[in-house]
Amino acid sequence: MPADFYEEEDFQGQFKGNVFKRILDLMRPHWPWVLGFLICVIIVSILDAYFTYLSKQIVDRGIVNKDINALQQILVNYGILILVQAAAVFGFVFLVGVLGERVRYDLRQSLFNHLQRLSLSYFSRTPVGWIMSRVTNDTERVAELVTWGVLDSTWGVINILTSVIFMLVIDWRLALIVIAILPFLFYVAVQFRKRILEQFRNVRKINSKITASYNENISGVRVVKALGREDENLREFGEQTSAMRKAGYRAAWLSALFLPSVQIISAVGLGGIIWYSGATVGSGTFSIGSLQAFITYMTSMLWPIQDVARVFAEMQRALASAERIFSLVDTTPEILDKPGAFDPGTIRGEIQFEHMYFWYEDELPVIKDLNLTIQHGETIALVGSTGGGKTTIVNLLCRFYEPKRGRILIGGHDYTDLSLQAIQSRIGVVLQTPHLFSGTIRENIAYGRLKASQQDIEASAKLVGADHFIQRFEHGYDEQVGEGGVLLSVGQKQLISLARAVLSNPEIFIMDEATSSVDTLTESMIQKGMEAIMQDRTSIIIAHRLSTIKTAHRILVIEDGQIAEMGNHAELLKLKGKYYNLYTRQFRFEREDAYNIFKENNQANLSAG
Ligand SMILES: Nc1ncnc2c1ncn2[C@@H]1O[C@H](COP(=O)(O)OP(=O)(O)O)[C@@H](O)[C@H]1O
Ligand SMILES: [Mg+2]
Repeated sequence: MPADFYEEEDFQGQFKGNVFKRILDLMRPHWPWVLGFLICVIIVSILDAYFTYLSKQIVDRGIVNKDINALQQILVNYGILILVQAAAVFGFVFLVGVLGERVRYDLRQSLFNHLQRLSLSYFSRTPVGWIMSRVTNDTERVAELVTWGVLDSTWGVINILTSVIFMLVIDWRLALIVIAILPFLFYVAVQFRKRILEQFRNVRKINSKITASYNENISGVRVVKALGREDENLREFGEQTSAMRKAGYRAAWLSALFLPSVQIISAVGLGGIIWYSGATVGSGTFSIGSLQAFITYMTSMLWPIQDVARVFAEMQRALASAERIFSLVDTTPEILDKPGAFDPGTIRGEIQFEHMYFWYEDELPVIKDLNLTIQHGETIALVGSTGGGKTTIVNLLCRFYEPKRGRILIGGHDYTDLSLQAIQSRIGVVLQTPHLFSGTIRENIAYGRLKASQQDIEASAKLVGADHFIQRFEHGYDEQVGEGGVLLSVGQKQLISLARAVLSNPEIFIMDEATSSVDTLTESMIQKGMEAIMQDRTSIIIAHRLSTIKTAHRILVIEDGQIAEMGNHAELLKLKGKYYNLYTRQFRFEREDAYNIFKENNQANLSAG
C-alpha cells in the first residue's frame, strides 16, 4: 500500500495515458444527451451576449434617438429571445441531471460488478475505506466532471468568445484594449487560485488526520485511559489543529486578496475604455449604448476568467478520481475461471489435497506439502494453535485462494478446471464472526436461496434450534436484524447463519470456529444444529472448543501448515501427543471456568440475600 494511500487530494502528477479517452468512452453511450446539452449551453451563452447588444440598441436607437417603433421592435425581439433562452436553460439543467445520473449509474454498476468478481486476496490487501471511497466519492466526482465540469468550461469559453466577437463588432479598437489585458487577468487569476487551492488542500489533509485521531481515540478510549495517554494525545492533537488553523488563515488571506486584485486590473481596462470613449463619444464614433455594452461584456468575461483556475483544479481532481476508478476496474481477479471451465453437476466426490503448498505475500509457506484425502460424507475436524493454517486450508478448499504448488482434486478433477460457481455455490460456510446483512431474519436465512418457501425457512431454523428464539421476537421472522445484525447476540447470529447454511443445502459444509465466541449453552444448541447439517455431507469443522469435535470421523492437528497428528478422538487420546495435551489442558480450564462461574453465582446470591 503506498504511503499516500488516503491522501486523495494530493494528486498533481501527469495522468497516465488514456484517462481522457476513457472518460469520453463513459459519455459515448449517452451522446444524444451530451449533444443536446452542449447545444443548449451554446444557445444560452450566445443569447446572453446578444442581449447586451440589444440593450445597446435600446439606448442608442430607441432612447437617444427617441424612436418608439424601433424600441417596440427591439422589445418584441427581446421577449421572444428570452423565451428561447428560458427553454434552453431548462434544457441544459435537465439534460445535465439526466446525464450525470446515467454516468453515475454506469460507474456504480460496473464497480459493484467488478468488486464482486475480485478475489479475496484483493480485499485482504485493500482497506475497505479505500474501496468505499472509490465507489462513493470518486464516482460522484467523475459524474460531476462529465456534467458540471463540461458545462462550466463550455460556458466560460463561449462566454469569452462571444463577448470578444460582439466587442469587435461594436468597436474593434476598444476591443483590442480589452483583449490586451485578458492575459494579465488570466495570469493573476491562475496564480491566486493555485495558491488558495494549495492551502485548502493542506487544510483537507490535516483535517483527515484529525478525523483519524478522533476515530482512534474514541474507538480506543479504554486503552487510552488505561495507559494514561490523555496528555500526550492532547498535545499531538493540538499540533495538528494549530497547523490546520495556520493553513486556514493563509487561505483566508489569499482569498481576500484575490478579488480586489482582479478588480484593480479590470478597472485599469475599464479606465482605458472610458478614457478612449470620452475622446470619441463626442465625435460621434462611439455611442453611450456602446460604452455601456462594453462595460457589461467586460464584467461578464471576468467571471469565467476568475473561475478558470477553479474549474481547472476541479477537473484535475476529477481526473485523479477517474484514474483511481479505472485502476480498480483494471484490477483483474487473481482467481478466474479457466477457458473451458465446467460444472460437473456435483462436488460430492472425494476431495484430495496433493502436495499442496501455499503462501500469502512473501514466499514463506503457510501450508507445506499437505496431503489429505477426504471421503464423501466424512466429518473432518481441524484443531491446533492459532496461526497454524486451519483457516487457510479451508480458504483454499473454497477456492478463495488457489494452491501455489500441488493441487486440489474434487471428484478426480483438478478443481481449477471447474468453474468457480460450480464449487462455491455448493459449499456452505459458517464463520467465527457470523455476518448478517441488514434486513429481516427471514431475508438473512434465505440469503443463498432467495426463492425458499416460508416452510423451508422455518424448517431449517427449527433444525438448527433457532426457531424458538426467533418466535419470541415481536415480529418473528420479520424482525429487523439491524446493520450487520447488531440487534442480535453473537449466538443468535450464529444460529441464523447455521440456518442459512442448512437452507442452501450445500454438498460440503465448513465451520470455522463458529462456536468460539458463544457461551456453552448456546454452543450445545449449535452443536445439535451442526449434527443435523453434517448428516450425509462432507463436513470440515474447525473448533476452538474440543468438546464439539469428539464425534468427528477424523481429527487433524494442524501445526505450522502441516498435519502433526491424525486419527479419531479415542486414537489420538491414546497417542498421548499434541491432541492429548490440547484436550486435557482445555478440559481442565473448562472445569475451572465452570467452578468460577459457580462460585460467582453463589457469592452473588449470598450478597443479594
Ligand atoms: N490474508 C492474509 N495475508 C497474509 N497472511 C495471512 C493471511 N491470513 C493468514 N495469514 C497468515 O497465515 C498463517 C496461518 O493463518 P490461519 O490460516 O488464519 O491460521 P489458523 O486459522 O490456524 O489460526 C498465519 O501466520 C497468518 O498470519
Ligand atoms: Mg483461523
